[in-house]
Amino acid sequence: MNVVCIGSGYVGSVTGAAFAVLGHHTTVLDIDQNKVDQMNAGKSPIYEPGLDHLINSYIGRSLFATTDYGVIYHADVVFIGVGTPSKADGTADLTYIRLAAQSIGQYVNPDKFVVIINKSTVPVGTADLVASIIEESSNLKVDTHFAMASNPEFLREGYALEDVFFPERIVVGAENIHAKKVMKELYFNVINRVEYEGKSIDFQFSHNPNAALPIYYETDIKSAEMIKYASNAFLAVKISYINEIARLCETLGANITEVATGMGMDSRIGNKFLQVSSGWSGSCFPKDTAELLATSQKYSCELTVVQAAVDSNQQMHDYVVDKIKRKLKTLNGKNIGILGLTFKPNTDDARKTQASVIIKELIDAGARIKAHDPHGMAMFQQLNPALDVQYVSNAIDVTYNVDAVVLLTHWAEYLHMDWSFVKNNMRSPYLLDTRNVLKQGHLHQLGFDYEGLGIHSTKKTTQEFVRS
Ligand code: UDX
Repeated sequence: MNVVCIGSGYVGSVTGAAFAVLGHHTTVLDIDQNKVDQMNAGKSPIYEPGLDHLINSYIGRSLFATTDYGVIYHADVVFIGVGTPSKADGTADLTYIRLAAQSIGQYVNPDKFVVIINKSTVPVGTADLVASIIEESSNLKVDTHFAMASNPEFLREGYALEDVFFPERIVVGAENIHAKKVMKELYFNVINRVEYEGKSIDFQFSHNPNAALPIYYETDIKSAEMIKYASNAFLAVKISYINEIARLCETLGANITEVATGMGMDSRIGNKFLQVSSGWSGSCFPKDTAELLATSQKYSCELTVVQAAVDSNQQMHDYVVDKIKRKLKTLNGKNIGILGLTFKPNTDDARKTQASVIIKELIDAGARIKAHDPHGMAMFQQLNPALDVQYVSNAIDVTYNVDAVVLLTHWAEYLHMDWSFVKNNMRSPYLLDTRNVLKQGHLHQLGFDYEGLGIHSTKKTTQEFVRS
């Protein structure tokens, strides 16, 4: 098929590359000439493990990149994968969606039935909006000349290729018969996992790639749009919940790692998304929960559970800051080293991360901050120009002469640091591990004043024995 993906961000570039690998003639279309040039030079416009290699292998063969909307004329399907950032009131800003729809309308071929697919996370009802904009700018009729579909993206940054080639589910909202047929054909290779051999895909698997084939779930458009929001909000609720339980565990002397393991053995609960943290963040959860809450208020159908999860998440950021204050007493004149600025490992995405909230609170309380991140420093610095942070290019440099080291993101390189060397660099040996990923028994032996979240014991946990 002739596929066009509008937008070369996380969604568009990954989706485009994947369809090109699976044999479709795919063009990524972006108004940003720099990103297009990067792709044409065989480079990924974003940091995502394996994506550079894939773009480099397929660009000019079945993958193309352009700024020219003229490619829409030949398209069988057009994915809209542009950004939908939050407005000040929490609702999604659909400016880029509107612009894309307008341009599609100007270039769409009246003699070729094309399926327009919203892949960005967009509020319920956006397919109707896009259809009406295309109708106005083209003078064509939805369902006569083109059809709408919703196909939300569930990719996790850092594991995007795995999620695109080995998804658990593919959700397609389509009501037009032709659109339904086209969508199924488009996904045939993914649904049946065929033609995957010899594709030089460099996967970073987080779970068993031989798991069951994906479920292809066809539904109406509005339900598909809602599935994405409801899923992300549910995951946010799950993490907020485990983080609250972690705080209670810490108060009562229980161990959250043990508790989460025991809870996760119940398949109704599941063992994923029960890992303690300083709070969820990133480019999706904050924006999607904000939009869902704003919409629910607008229609007087309030989602109190989601609101509580958002409030609780802010409390979790504050809890981490309070913990550091309790330990160091006053933060005036204290040096604190931060490990990790991205919202999770294996991404350079530093949008709306908990690090920005926590660092600001620490600076406001008088601390001086040194920070490191393997891939996220440039974006973090650009997005947080007002934060007075000393950025260091080597993780060890964060630890010189500091009163505390705070691990916020569990990048693999932090797990394998020379902690005995770190200990000797520090002014006082307080180490706060907000992901409970370091070996506390070992760190205590080295003389660290180690703390995790929701754990009390100074002995090795069962998890550590299992791992070691
Ligand atoms: C999320 C959804 O998982 C994905 O399906 C959707 O398409 C986009 O939003 P992503 O934002 O890439 O993906 O990150 P995810 O791995 O879901 O993590 C979100 C946040 O939750 C991160 O801050 C992460 O550190 C945190 N988290 C996750 C926890 O604190 N504990 C956990 O157990 C899991």
